[in-house]
Amino acid sequence: MKIIRVKDYEALSKRAASYLIEKVRNKPNMILGLATGGTSEGTYQYLIKDYKGNQTSYRNVTTFNLDEYIGLDGNNENSYRFFMDTHLFNHLDIEKTKTHVPRGNVKDPLKECDTYELLIKERGGIDLQLLGIGGNGHIGFNEPGSSFQSRTRIVELADSTRRDNARFFEQLEDVPTHAITMGIATIMESKEILLIASGEGKREAMRRLLQGDVSEDFPASILKKHSHVTIIADEAALTGLE
Ligand code: F6R
Repeated sequence: MKIIRVKDYEALSKRAASYLIEKVRNKPNMILGLATGGTSEGTYQYLIKDYKGNQTSYRNVTTFNLDEYIGLDGNNENSYRFFMDTHLFNHLDIEKTKTHVPRGNVKDPLKECDTYELLIKERGGIDLQLLGIGGNGHIGFNEPGSSFQSRTRIVELADSTRRDNARFFEQLEDVPTHAITMGIATIMESKEILLIASGEGKREAMRRLLQGDVSEDFPASILKKHSHVTIIADEAALTGLE
């Protein structure tokens, strides 16, 4: 794993965006895996800024997001589809039909999981997957205890994850209890992975990622077994490490 240490969240966002922009420029029809969440917001702002200033085109890019809450429609402000549309897709020249977020409000979510896996395969697999990391080491919504063999499926969210994400909802009770997430095996099949982490709230997770064992108790630890992982993290997340 290559670690890029940057000063703060602003620098992280800029660096992660430059990283992605270079990849898109080199392969305009790339298959890009995306994440939602607070950490990715700044990166997306810089992608938009670059698009407006330098016209980097996303017309031929296909995207697959990691996850979506079960029960939320894409128009619901708390859905990850809504997040992606408003924070990124609506501001680029990407074709909406090429952007994929699991649908959390379908009649048959189990079928949705299988369809999503198939679609990723049909498109030739993910070239570069952007990841955030949960305080408990989750990647996507693969919570501690998730099998390293897992594929896109329905999962129950950990209480700590629901509490972490409650800041986006009116109250904790509104945070869905279940989600669809790409599995760990699905994520590991990406040709390349870029993980971003910011703030002291991620420090313990970074310590376990960089210094701990590979264990299903800490899902992100599997990334050590991937041959092409880059981590961009800020000082606050890396204090006392390296
Ligand atoms: C979101 C996702 C999650 C987040 C993680 C960090 O699509 O897959 O794994 O990346 O929870 O979230 P933030 O960035 O809000 O700290």
